[in-house]
Amino acid sequence: MNHFLDIHKTDPAALRTMIDSALAMKAARNGRPKGSPDDDRPLKDRMVALIFEKPSTRTRVSFDVGVRQLGGQTMVLSGKEMQLGHGETIADTARVLSRYVDLIMIRTFEEATLLEMAEHATVPVINGLTNRTHPCQIMADVMTYEEHRGPIGGRKVVWCGDGNNVCASFLHAAGQFGFDFTFTGPETLDPEDRFVAFARDKGSKVTIQRDPFTAVEGADLVVTDTWVSMHDPESAKERRHNQLRPYQVNEMLMSRAKPDSLFMHCLPAHRNDEATSAVMDGPHSVIFDEAENRLHAQKAILRWCLGL
Ligand code: CP
Ligand code: NVA
Repeated sequence: MNHFLDIHKTDPAALRTMIDSALAMKAARNGRPKGSPDDDRPLKDRMVALIFEKPSTRTRVSFDVGVRQLGGQTMVLSGKEMQLGHGETIADTARVLSRYVDLIMIRTFEEATLLEMAEHATVPVINGLTNRTHPCQIMADVMTYEEHRGPIGGRKVVWCGDGNNVCASFLHAAGQFGFDFTFTGPETLDPEDRFVAFARDKGSKVTIQRDPFTAVEGADLVVTDTWVSMHDPESAKERRHNQLRPYQVNEMLMSRAKPDSLFMHCLPAHRNDEATSAVMDGPHSVIFDEAENRLHAQKAILRWCLGL
């Protein structure tokens, strides 16, 4: 069963095939209307369930459009409106949905929910974000880097701010795609050891650097994300803003990166908190290509999961 649960659980050769396939599918659409199907419709007669237990704009729309471009159909389900939100177990939900649909994509809170879904589903399951990781986002980010600057292997990626779920998937990707990764942020918001250990074990150079200006020196790619994630308590907001303000990505910080460096943010952003509008709309920024590439990268993930 080809579940796409995390980047570190997926074979590097398969990850490479997905990136190349995503780039090829993007090129093949060549300016067509966005709702029109691809020439090739491998998901014809397939049904995909998209379950959301948290809000989403990009994941929801890009998966929905992507499945349709591949010729398939979707049903978008809110966890709250399902029996899942009223005490039915994840395992039973997985068994039932597997009788109706060909693939399940789920955005949820606990990593354990995703794993339980995958364990009991008899169709592939895709991780559309948990509190711990966000692998679809980072596949789009790797694709975006390579589309602008060529192979990501050996490059220096610097993460500024909270060592959150998106940061964790970047560490997995550092190990699998072979790039170096520097984290800069306060100690209390460091990425979990298990994510750092994975990248290091795979031979990636991982650096923790408290000074953001030193960290960004010579970066090929600078990345940040919201300071408060969907699963973080609202009460954490003020403290986090105070802790993270020195790690804001602004023009002064970007000037320490390589002149041809790129800036990424998975969005949604809080403009002028984690990154200034000058950077988000500036010459290094590829944030809207990243958002677009969710569509193409996920089409490649869907095809890989279904062996199509
Ligand atoms: N980047 C991302 O996953 O965005 P959404 O929360 O809008 O899906
Ligand atoms: N770290 C963010 C990513 C949103 C796409 C969150 O989990 O809220």
